[in-house]
Amino acid sequence: MQLTPEAFAKIRETLYQVSGIKLETGKEELVKARLIKVLNKLDLADFESYLEHVKRDTSGEELKHMVDVLTTNKTSFYRENEHFEYVKRTIAPVLSTANGPLRIWCAGCSSGEEPYTLSMVLNDCLPAGRYAQLQILATDISQRVLSTARAAEYSEELAAELPEVVRRKHFEKLPPGKVRVRAELRKRISFARLNLMGPWPMRGPFDAIFCRNVMIYFDKPTQESLVNRYYALIRPGGHMFVSRTESLAGVQHPFEYIEPGVYRR
Ligand SMILES: C[S@@+](CC[C@H](N)C(=O)[O-])C[C@H]1O[C@@H](n2cnc3c(N)ncnc32)[C@H](O)[C@@H]1O
Repeated sequence: MQLTPEAFAKIRETLYQVSGIKLETGKEELVKARLIKVLNKLDLADFESYLEHVKRDTSGEELKHMVDVLTTNKTSFYRENEHFEYVKRTIAPVLSTANGPLRIWCAGCSSGEEPYTLSMVLNDCLPAGRYAQLQILATDISQRVLSTARAAEYSEELAAELPEVVRRKHFEKLPPGKVRVRAELRKRISFARLNLMGPWPMRGPFDAIFCRNVMIYFDKPTQESLVNRYYALIRPGGHMFVSRTESLAGVQHPFEYIEPGVYRR
């Protein structure tokens, strides 16, 4: 099946309007590979009919599904572990003695590995009473990854890459070939669908916001608007994390730079 330049341009424009994600030229094959399964399921003959179908659906569900399918969701437990070491070294000692709830937002949490890692790390280093006050909000635009995140079930092979001590302490075995993050860690996290381009119903302040490997898909004006919206939701002294390889060069913001990917209000 052919993806014409016109159909690709329409898909690209729609994805950008809805989610802020910028598809570069050269991503035609990727788009085709991801959407062809949807077309087949709907028994549609070409991408033009698919775009018509999405447009006709007044519920907006087909559009949501299209965006969902086109998101890139690569993630892993303890990804860029330097950030979790920073949390242990610098943030946890302050949170250990502070009063009130500890609030962290993982914006673009994908299938849950990032918020679960945070829950594990803070479980390891906070006093039990303080850990019980931890609230992690984990959001993503994709329902597909959020259902994986909520189930908290991962393959044994994935868990095998983690140190034995982490596996034993934080996962329970499920037959066959699966493990699940323990209930105590799951309880600290609320998952919700949220499009970062839309309104944010939650209120601050957050002690930290993680938005790693998400803004790389957005253009500079979108990044700038998001980073400043994060700033407004973070308490003074609180942190924002982006990926260590992500550059905020050309983005105007009032954060203090601490180390790669770590910023402080
Ligand atoms: C590559 S994953 C990063 C996951 C995790 N933060 C990490 O660093 O491992 C990027 C995630 O951002 C989400 N995303 C992209 N655009 C979004 C938007 N407009 N609103 C909310 N989430 C979005 C995608 O669905 C995807 O799950």
